[in-house]
Amino acid sequence: MAFNKIAIIGGTGLTQLEGPQITGSHELTTKLGQPSSAVQEGSWNDRSVLFLARHGHPHAVPPHKINYRANLLALQSLGADAIIAVNAVGGIHHAMQSGVISIPHQVVDYTWGRESTFFDGEFRPLDHIDLTHPYDENLRQRLITAASGIDMPVCEFGVYAATQGPRLETIAEINRLEKDGCDLVGMTGMPEAALARELGIPYASICLVVNPAAGKSDGIITMEEIKAVLDGGMQRVRDLLAETLRQ
Ligand code: HPA
Repeated sequence: MAFNKIAIIGGTGLTQLEGPQITGSHELTTKLGQPSSAVQEGSWNDRSVLFLARHGHPHAVPPHKINYRANLLALQSLGADAIIAVNAVGGIHHAMQSGVISIPHQVVDYTWGRESTFFDGEFRPLDHIDLTHPYDENLRQRLITAASGIDMPVCEFGVYAATQGPRLETIAEINRLEKDGCDLVGMTGMPEAALARELGIPYASICLVVNPAAGKSDGIITMEEIKAVLDGGMQRVRDLLAETLRQ
């Protein structure tokens, strides 16, 4: 399936698009409030793209305070027909070492207290959407094919655990997530994926592992170590986005 306008939601380490030629910037207010940032519009490899900085630009909105519903509504109102989310995550599974890029296929949601549905009986009447496969398989395969086209190794699967943040986890919490079958841990994957499904917009994620999750290395987790991985890693994420848009 061809997409006409792909939206990118950038996370930690990707607060601005550098590849595309920016043609406009939209300061929107939705019926459910303000998105995290203005939405940039542009063209990248001859494709229309939208870009939204999930934590704002500069990076300031914590994961539990992001207005995920406004972000999704803003992208929909600008015509997004697919969304690629970029997420910095901790690695739980031994295959998810720092620097690895994973295209997750499943989610477990441990977040709480977030506005996590449009079908709340106020904004829209109650409804129960299917989320058996939380990520759009067609879009996932497109990312995987693009990665192989530029000889970029990626993990083609991964179970993403969405935690509340902004603090990182304890060792016991990570052990629990591992027992639950989770491979990656981040703070922003939900409710974003579910809200995209509620709007009927195909959604997939590029996860960059930026640290071993708590207890998966000998030391503690430092922001310095995360930043060091982010710098090189996000350049590879940009390359993957560019190739995905080129296809
Ligand atoms: N846990 C939760 N979220 C994260 C982590 C982590 O270890 N690293 C980056 N985002």
